[in-house]
Amino acid sequence: MSDEGSVDDRWASQVEIVAACRAHNFWTWSAQSAVDPLPVARAEGVYFWDFEGRRYLDFNSGVMCVNIGYGEERVIDAIARQAGELAFAGPHTATRARAELGDLLSGVTPAGLDTFLYTLGGSEANENAIKLARAYTGRHKILAQYRSYHGATHGAIAATGDLRRWMWEPAVMPGVVHFVGPGGDPWSRDRTPADAGTALDHLESVMRFEGPETIAAVLIETIPGTNGVLIAPPGYLEGVRELCTRHGIQLICDEVMTGFGRTGAWFAVDHAGITPDLMTMAKGLTSGYAPLGAVAIAGHILEYFQERVFQGGLTYNGHPLGLAAAIANIQVLQADRLIERAQRVGARLERALREVAAEHAIIGDVRCIGMMAALDLVRDLDRRPPLADYAVRSEAIHSLRDDCLKHGLYLRSHNSTLLIMPPLMIDERDLQIGLEILGGCLGRLASEL
Ligand SMILES: Cc1ncc(COP(=O)(O)O)c(C=O)c1O
Repeated sequence: MSDEGSVDDRWASQVEIVAACRAHNFWTWSAQSAVDPLPVARAEGVYFWDFEGRRYLDFNSGVMCVNIGYGEERVIDAIARQAGELAFAGPHTATRARAELGDLLSGVTPAGLDTFLYTLGGSEANENAIKLARAYTGRHKILAQYRSYHGATHGAIAATGDLRRWMWEPAVMPGVVHFVGPGGDPWSRDRTPADAGTALDHLESVMRFEGPETIAAVLIETIPGTNGVLIAPPGYLEGVRELCTRHGIQLICDEVMTGFGRTGAWFAVDHAGITPDLMTMAKGLTSGYAPLGAVAIAGHILEYFQERVFQGGLTYNGHPLGLAAAIANIQVLQADRLIERAQRVGARLERALREVAAEHAIIGDVRCIGMMAALDLVRDLDRRPPLADYAVRSEAIHSLRDDCLKHGLYLRSHNSTLLIMPPLMIDERDLQIGLEILGGCLGRLASEL
């Protein structure tokens, strides 16, 4: 800071803040020259504001993580208290926060998953789950689905089943084999999603041809999120569980996006009643108030490491501020009954989205579970194929997003699919406001196309 002016004086305007951010940042997921960062000054509930006082309704919960909404005093106070008491303690320490979170978390995870390795986020949780499965089985292959995202680090991006992996090949972690999940391929001639039996037959074929005794794990997003809320048909997840059990393959369920109420259950595996061997989480674990991820580990894998050293760990694993945020966040989810609320308001969201879809032929499919929804935008009146080819940027969907933003609604998209994932505590009035903005923008887009 110079003597002449305070930090506030130097960055008094939105224009200056954006310019200064652009001057010194290398932006993720972006071509640097094309970056136009969204100015965010503060946030409360389901809204955030820019520095000029413009208000935006957040239909993306930040990065699909702010499940309890912004500005929640109970979590802010818990983080502040933790910072005052003990801001840092290393991964080898027994802290009050570690004691309390394990107790709380094991009360909401599926029975049998009650030991946790804390990480800094979702990608690192998946890295560790892969390592644990490989060490436990002594096998190396990881089967993962196309149309999935597991994170941007070396192993997690290798497991990712979409175009975000392509840039880093062939140097990504070896040993991953991808298979087509029940979401199918909407760009293919046969665009209908597979039923459970067909999808399971395909997975079993891949296992057979790869050799089950070489496969350490099947890693799936329980409900693939960014790739379009691809809800598996009844029986599919149970079938994957059975195939894995039969062949001694570890099932890793990535619940980074689906965990902590997003789908109207604590975890998406709860809908199918299955228990994976390893379950990864992040995002809604703290609702984004501090960085934290976790791997929930089943008893047999824990047993394997009783007498063997787990060679892994980072300086900030189990950081007290993240743990404190998670404790308070889970308490808010419980006290405010936000899981039940996500079911109730989610049913209303689904009805409303189906009404929107009925009005606009540009919408193909609607998929919704709890507060996790996707709208496919399509080219033809027979509601297919997707608006843009795979890996082709859809200008139309970006102009729709820009139009939404101009009208005060923030949401995200992937390929030709709009993603709608508001905070779980959104009330019906705000939901209606967002849906009306979205309906208006879809109408304008349809008339332009
Ligand atoms: C399903 C899933 N897995 C993993 C990740 C990676 O998590 P993180 O960005 O916290 O590393 C994400 C992030 O969007 C995700 O959606």
